[in-house]
Amino acid sequence: MSEQECSPADKYDDYVMPITKGYDPFTVTRANDTTMVTTEGDEYLDCFSGISVTNAGHNNPNVVAAAKAQLDELVHTCSYIYRNEPVANLAERIAEITPGDLQKTFFCNSGTEAVEGAIKLARKYTGSKEIVALEMAFHGRTLGSLSLTGNHAYKHGMAPTVNDVVHAPASYQFRSPYGDLPASEFAEAAASELERTIGTHTSRDLAAIVLEPVMGEGGIIVPPVGYLRRVQDIAHDYGALLIVDEVQTGYGRTGTIFASEQFGIEPDILTQAKGIADGLPLGAFTASAEIADCFEAGDHLSTFGGNPVCCAAALANIEELETGIVDNVVEQGNWLGDQLADIEAEYDTVGEARGLGLMHGVELVASDTSPAKTAAVVVKNHARDKHGVILGVGGYYKNVVRFQPPLTITRENLKRAVDALSDGIESVER
Ligand SMILES: Cc1ncc(COP(=O)(O)O)c(C=O)c1O
Repeated sequence: MSEQECSPADKYDDYVMPITKGYDPFTVTRANDTTMVTTEGDEYLDCFSGISVTNAGHNNPNVVAAAKAQLDELVHTCSYIYRNEPVANLAERIAEITPGDLQKTFFCNSGTEAVEGAIKLARKYTGSKEIVALEMAFHGRTLGSLSLTGNHAYKHGMAPTVNDVVHAPASYQFRSPYGDLPASEFAEAAASELERTIGTHTSRDLAAIVLEPVMGEGGIIVPPVGYLRRVQDIAHDYGALLIVDEVQTGYGRTGTIFASEQFGIEPDILTQAKGIADGLPLGAFTASAEIADCFEAGDHLSTFGGNPVCCAAALANIEELETGIVDNVVEQGNWLGDQLADIEAEYDTVGEARGLGLMHGVELVASDTSPAKTAAVVVKNHARDKHGVILGVGGYYKNVVRFQPPLTITRENLKRAVDALSDGIESVER
């Protein structure tokens, strides 16, 4: 093969930093709704959505059309020197769809930037410094967000990160350190532990508590009812803000536009990215006018943030989600939950199946319920190679198989994915 004919895989080896090492990726050339097509023409059913991004389906025609129309008009203006209409319209729309009195938005390009900006805003507003995050949480990989991420695996060789961040135990009932409590008592125990962490690990100069409503990378951990409301109260008792990181749960993923609605909380700052523009790079954080207005010109800027093409796509994406896609999440998500509960009952390898909407995880365990560390990757690879179904893997112990398909998925395709999962688990148990 001549140098010009090198495959994408060879070029990745030679010219792209080795971030895909160990993942055994294929090369995708096209995608449509829940289908991804490789260079060889093989088709895969995508049940991971490019890590929970293409919520309105890959290449949603209305989102693509909105982006194309905007490309013909205006590709870029730096949004702090000039205004552009898509930013104005999207910010107004986000104020309408976010909970509580969230009103003003800052646009950036990714989830990690949204989290970083939210921390700066919380520090500026409160005049305080310390941040509480949760163990096993994931908030991004740039140094500020990385300091909130509660998992050593992402930090090897990267320390030191930001000071004044402490971690409280996650509300992870399957591996509860408090014994077998009813959900409401567990919620109270986990919230009390968080408050104890503030007492033992901070000087009480608290700017924010940051958490994901449902942990994504941490293994699809759904907190018990009441936990998030208690944490919101704790944050306010200490004069801190509650930053709710909906980068992964937002834009319909859990069956409402934002998961906060289902848990009855009103974030002081809400971070968004991933599903916001169905695959175009956009991040955002939204706060009440009172909190947002403490930012002064120059406090926070991003050259590409508020890109008109991405914002036009995001507007079309929100419209799409509201025309039946979120309803599909509830319908298919309930069915998926029932199927996964049956799988939990059937297989000893499944410790717990849990989730909300179309964000589900299946935690795989050894006979003593310790994490089955390699099993999830075996199941994921089996589903891909034998069934053409793409699943994800997550969890602090990397033992959780993740279902996070485009929210447009049909029952027929979901059934195919569930069959691929059970066959994969059988292959582990054989
Ligand atoms: C909850 C959460 N916050 C932040 C991030 C970081 O987003 P990004 O990869 O766009 O920087 C992620 C990414 O997985 C996430 O799941």
